[in-house]
Amino acid sequence: MPLSKRQTLTQYLIDQRRRFPGASGELNALILDVSIACKAIARAVAFGELGEVMGDGAAKLGGEVNVQGEVQKKLDVVSNEMFIATAEWSGHLAGMASEEMDAPYQIPKAYPRGKYLLVFDPLDGSSNIDVNVSVGSIFSILRAPQDVIDSGRDVVEADFMQPGTRQVAAGYALYGPVTMLVLTVGNGVVGFTLDPNLGEFKVTHPHITVPADTHEFAINSSNSRFWEAPVKRYVDECLAGKTGPRGKDFNTRWIASMVAEAHRILMRGGVFLYPRDTKDPKKPGRLRLLYEANPIGFIMEQAGGRASTGRVPMLEVQPTELHQRIGLVFGSRNEVERIERYHRETVTPDSASPLFTERSLFRD
Ligand code: AHG
Ligand code: MN
Ligand code: MN
Repeated sequence: MPLSKRQTLTQYLIDQRRRFPGASGELNALILDVSIACKAIARAVAFGELGEVMGDGAAKLGGEVNVQGEVQKKLDVVSNEMFIATAEWSGHLAGMASEEMDAPYQIPKAYPRGKYLLVFDPLDGSSNIDVNVSVGSIFSILRAPQDVIDSGRDVVEADFMQPGTRQVAAGYALYGPVTMLVLTVGNGVVGFTLDPNLGEFKVTHPHITVPADTHEFAINSSNSRFWEAPVKRYVDECLAGKTGPRGKDFNTRWIASMVAEAHRILMRGGVFLYPRDTKDPKKPGRLRLLYEANPIGFIMEQAGGRASTGRVPMLEVQPTELHQRIGLVFGSRNEVERIERYHRETVTPDSASPLFTERSLFRD
């Protein structure tokens, strides 16, 4: 295949940095490190059964059940280690947090500490690994609080309690038929495809935008008996099709890899719901705020879509816990706004419960 003249990830990042003449280049270096971790994970995933990284984590790699009570796959653990190994040494990080680690990760004393926090889901959709369906990695970059930067002290959970509006960059890698990296540094959303000849990510989708309207929705309907009234109403109206209140037929999709659903929605529109439900009173939602909802939310908003809890914009939620779960709705703007309106129009019996109160920065 001929060598293409497409811009590489490195070139794209240099171009972006030129918008800020004072910038040090540390953010770029950090994103490049993350992209190397993603390439390494893509290779590990591609070896499948041949790579001895399939199955649950307990046997070989010490992983068993993570802090959230989920069985860790070997690849969850391996991917987590790849993120750490590529990002810890560079001097750009004050600390890290991941789905697979109970507490914040401290940069070892052997390495310098920097000004950023890296938060990640090393492998999203990992229940799909054994059936050879797309999985991905999701990451979010925040600035560390100033006193952490000044003192170089160990990070604590409170340092990560920043709303999504404070993200400096966010992205995901998708390990599908091709490996892609989708990134925002707060200036739109760009998609890169991994060129297997060169091992470089190259710009293939320079201005990703989410269509405002759609006729496709994604929700795990096996949970329907636990849904709240506004979600039931929304889904019922979609299912009613042409002769119902929406006046058109809808398609459904459910991959069970949120990162793959987000990618489909970025490519052709749609809406994704993993809403707050009544399945387990201890868990207000399935997905995690800091390393799933916020980075995907930032990307959606940057692509002209919308992300919400159903009640408040996702990026305005003030986090309270590292592994906090939250109801998540994202995608085509008009659909997400409609779902928010349905929530406003319904008063739920538990709306006064402190567990279910989402504290927004800008609203009660
Ligand atoms: P993870 O593999 O990081 O734990 O995340 C899996 C998530 C998400 O990707 C997906 O949308 C959801 O879990 C699927 O949940 P169900 O099994 O309830 O469909
Ligand atoms: Mn996940
Ligand atoms: Mn995961």
